[in-house]
Amino acid sequence: MQILTTAAGLHAYTEQARQAGHRVGLVPTMGALHAGHLQLVQAARAECNEVIASIFVNPTQFNNAEDFRLYPRVPEADAALLAPAGCTALFVPSVAEMYSQTTVLRFDFGALERVMEGAHRPGHFSGVATVVSKLFHLACPHRAYFGQKDWQQVAIVKQLVADLSFDLEIVACPTIREADGLAMSSRNRRLDAPARAAAPLLYQVLQTAAAQVRRGVPPAQVQAIAEASIAQEPLFTVEYMAVADAQTLQPLTDYGAGRAVVLCLAAHLGGVRLIDNVVVEA
Ligand code: PAJ
Repeated sequence: MQILTTAAGLHAYTEQARQAGHRVGLVPTMGALHAGHLQLVQAARAECNEVIASIFVNPTQFNNAEDFRLYPRVPEADAALLAPAGCTALFVPSVAEMYSQTTVLRFDFGALERVMEGAHRPGHFSGVATVVSKLFHLACPHRAYFGQKDWQQVAIVKQLVADLSFDLEIVACPTIREADGLAMSSRNRRLDAPARAAAPLLYQVLQTAAAQVRRGVPPAQVQAIAEASIAQEPLFTVEYMAVADAQTLQPLTDYGAGRAVVLCLAAHLGGVRLIDNVVVEA
């Protein structure tokens, strides 16, 4: 596995791969890797002969300086996991390499980002779109792999690709969970023992809510029951619970025929912010 630290190095590497007729897959990450990330690498490996993973804790997508400071960084352990998973090159730039000058461009994804993560983390998706655009330009991948754990991020990135005519395909992979249902996340490392023990409640509440959606329980009621269930665990504070159209992400007041529903939950647990979602197919 080749380690690349400069933008020029990444560009040259993928240029050569493309000229050799290779298919290039890109897996953007912020590191502190777990099985959810490695699944993306494996999916890329199954479809592409070059798999480039990036590890970059992107400052422009953090609206909370403390969250950025505390974000886990374990570069050596990450590199050791990537090669066996099928990664052929790892891009690990410094902040100065990615942002040699302050960016002024801001993205606005309209209604797509007025809800959920976008509404609660101002500027977050502008930062995601900035860094993802840079990575797409530098790596010129045929395919880029993202996780459905961040459902809204996938929708935003697909919009970015369509609006800016990036010549690549976005592949969305399912959420990988711990045995007790907790969605894997780099932030899980920061949960202390009592918080970790309480954490599976998030997915349990989403599963109960999904069953209610299937039975036709009205969205407002599903939302209220979920919020009340989380509130029963004193370690948790709910940030939002959304019952939304899975494509447009807009909140639902009723269920239309043929429309998939996404249930998205964000909560704080012992000083750590966790998100999860479940999709109920139409
Ligand atoms: P990060 O949180 O490191 O996640 C990198 C990729 O792994 C994202 O596409 C995310 O959805 C996916 N992922 C994380 N946990 C997962 C899980 N349990 N199951 C399946 N996929 C999972 O998302 C980001 O980084 C950043 O916003 C990034 C896209 C890299 C831009 O900076």
